[in-house]
Amino acid sequence: MKAVRFHSYGGPEVLVYEDVPKPAPASGEVVVKVHATSVNPIDWKVRAGHLKSFRDYPLPFILGWDVSGVVESCGMDVTEWKPGDEVYGRPDIGRSGAYAEYIAVQTKDLARKPQKLDHVHSAAIPLAGLTAWQALFDTAGLQSMQKVLIHAAAGGVGHFALQFAKQKNVYVAGTASARNQEFLKQLGCDLPINYETTRFEDIVHDFDAVIESLGGEIRQRSWKVLKKGGIMVCLIGPPPSEEDAKAHGSRAAIIWAQTKPDQLAEVAKLVDSGRVRPEIAAVFPLREAAQAHKMSETEHVRGKIVLQVI
Ligand SMILES: NC(=O)c1ccc[n+]([C@@H]2O[C@H](COP(=O)([O-])OP(=O)(O)OC[C@H]3O[C@@H](n4cnc5c(N)ncnc54)[C@H](OP(=O)(O)O)[C@@H]3O)[C@@H](O)[C@H]2O)c1
Repeated sequence: MKAVRFHSYGGPEVLVYEDVPKPAPASGEVVVKVHATSVNPIDWKVRAGHLKSFRDYPLPFILGWDVSGVVESCGMDVTEWKPGDEVYGRPDIGRSGAYAEYIAVQTKDLARKPQKLDHVHSAAIPLAGLTAWQALFDTAGLQSMQKVLIHAAAGGVGHFALQFAKQKNVYVAGTASARNQEFLKQLGCDLPINYETTRFEDIVHDFDAVIESLGGEIRQRSWKVLKKGGIMVCLIGPPPSEEDAKAHGSRAAIIWAQTKPDQLAEVAKLVDSGRVRPEIAAVFPLREAAQAHKMSETEHVRGKIVLQVI
């Protein structure tokens, strides 16, 4: 089969479109014919070697931890799926990914694909969508009428977080540049904040939670918007300082999203009902993965970048 692999850590140019052995399903796995996958920042962080101390991947390696496709074959003990089923999911981040024509995936990492979306749109959802869901509800425990500040609200995780929060009647302030203010409004953002002209901590106070994915001074300034007992949920390292949290009378957490098929199923329902939509910034053919990485590395993508495999 064809896949995109990298043989050494480096820039986007290390991604090579080449022939590799087609996987076979082990017990508890299915092989999925990949129709689309998406690019997440972790892809280029791994490729560049930024996460080497955290996890050393065996080279050559196939990236890609979103998949939408069709079950081609099933391993022993698989009862949930059969060939021909349309699935989407987030394959195990410790194993090789979906920048390929086929991928072997454990059944626990899959759910039925949204019926009203094509594979390109479905592939945009799992990793970013699960992260948004788990940050808002599993970790921050947000409920109707509470208030959240979502940083990078126009990005992959942020635009899902914004829409999920609005579905639960949570008040949302979101940060983005001038060019994305209208986009945030369209997604239902109650208080879009242009970070180029406005310091968010000047206008946001006593919030229940912050979803923080930018780090550095933005994290430091974000403590000021939380009410006593509020929570900062960080998506990137280093872990938030417990001392800072204590000093502000707040709580802090860092999360690493997990695949939860029940959440994927719930999100599929939301998108099928038309109440949530993935925004696609660009679709590249698989062989142009390097171009897709260059775009993602600008860190100014609106929504998601998708790689179409067939
Ligand atoms: N812990 C986990 O499990 C987990 C899971 C997923 C992602 N992550 C991490 O979370 C981060 C976000 O992921 P993502 O997929 O959402 O990334 P992304 O799609 O690449 O984010 C791009 C967005 O960031 C916005 N942005 C850039 N600078 C900003 C600033 N100073 N203030 C506000 N917004 C700004 C951009 O908006 P403008 O163009 O308008 O500036 C753009 O829409 C990444 O570092 C990723 O690695 C962690």
